[in-house]
Amino acid sequence: MIKFNYSGCDSFVDRALLKEYEIKAQNSRAILLRGAGAGSEFTGWKSLPAEISEDDFQNIETVRDQWKTLGVNLVIVIGIGGSYLGAKCALEALGHSFLQRTDAPRVVFAGNCLCEEYHAQLLDLAQQSNVACIVISKSGTTTEPAVAFRLVKKFIEDKYGRDRAAERIVAITDAHKGALKTLAGKEGYCSFVVPDNVGGRFSVLTPVGLLPIAVAGYDIRALVRGAASEMEALVNGDDSALRYAAMRNCLYSELGKKVEILVSFNPRMQYLGEWWKQLFGESEGKDGKGIFPASLTYTTDLHSMGQYIQDGERILFETVLCVEKALREVRICEDELDLDQLNYLAGKRVGHCNEMARLGTAKAHIDGGVPQMEICIEQIDEANLGALFFFFEFACGVSAYMLGVNPFNQPGVEAYKKNMFALLEKPGY
Ligand code: PA5
Repeated sequence: MIKFNYSGCDSFVDRALLKEYEIKAQNSRAILLRGAGAGSEFTGWKSLPAEISEDDFQNIETVRDQWKTLGVNLVIVIGIGGSYLGAKCALEALGHSFLQRTDAPRVVFAGNCLCEEYHAQLLDLAQQSNVACIVISKSGTTTEPAVAFRLVKKFIEDKYGRDRAAERIVAITDAHKGALKTLAGKEGYCSFVVPDNVGGRFSVLTPVGLLPIAVAGYDIRALVRGAASEMEALVNGDDSALRYAAMRNCLYSELGKKVEILVSFNPRMQYLGEWWKQLFGESEGKDGKGIFPASLTYTTDLHSMGQYIQDGERILFETVLCVEKALREVRICEDELDLDQLNYLAGKRVGHCNEMARLGTAKAHIDGGVPQMEICIEQIDEANLGALFFFFEFACGVSAYMLGVNPFNQPGVEAYKKNMFALLEKPGY
């Protein structure tokens, strides 16, 4: 389902050298599949798509349907990092860029920042809405979602009554421990579990991603089916993720290409870039090593960052996410005056212009010293998104093992928290 092509790196990388990296990638893949590498206790995501049962789907769909019965038209999803970006990415990719669906509630996100005005505006929106909330925290102790949940919990209790609040709040957290687990038990919230062996940034195919996506009206069965078929392919020998991991490590280690830009020509894929940045950045950026993951949307960013990419420091490579088929057709119209001299395009699809922009950009950037890979899907839908999620998770595990780091921990994110707690005068800091 996912097609991978690295011919845009041919002029940069020696084939024999690349072969060595491909052999390393095969070894890393074997270690990942055997569960023999660092952090292997967090590799439950490898088999998740095949393990989601009919009961799991139905439990999720029950919440969605109960909230429909209550007339809920706003669902606030509270979470940060891996407890937020997968669902946000799916909703942005699958949704209409401008219109709200009429058959599903609006889903908004909170708990992903500490901006005061953001919270004030969220409560403005809640005032005008029929509200429910999904609070997601694997650890159950993360400050940002805990702050947002305090506010939203109080809002729901004040508006609907303390005894009715549990109808409108679902918690997704650890099976055994954490403040959120305790609170959910005490308040009688419906709860879902983040499996012990799945870390936050690998959790989009657990209720962390699936519940918000289902509540927003999208087909989570198709999403999981897409992930499952990609899983089958990658586990049974499709080497596209291996070649991607091999090439990015080769570009990094041999050519000093320290920044990878995930590029899309479709603005709906912007948050796939955000999700991907967390996945690779948090998994690989440690022990003084790691490719810096960046993301851009073209042609928009060709008019801003395009200058740097063409002409700035030669430390970049691009991975372009290609979508082969647009689901809607828009043709450029003829204009009698033709003052803009666009009549040569009359009758052509806007997507054709976008594709020519993609090909033109590829040639310009490759000629300018920026190697380029392509990852292609047929169209943006649930199944292809599920496939992309799994493809990148798998590639990330392989790539991080090639780099020699543990992909499944994140010791570096603790430093800011310690300082912040001390400044906030949290007891014990
Ligand atoms: O990938 C990760 O582990 C992190 O990004 C976490 O998802 C993020 O820090 C949120 O953690 P929690 O779900 O425990 O609140």
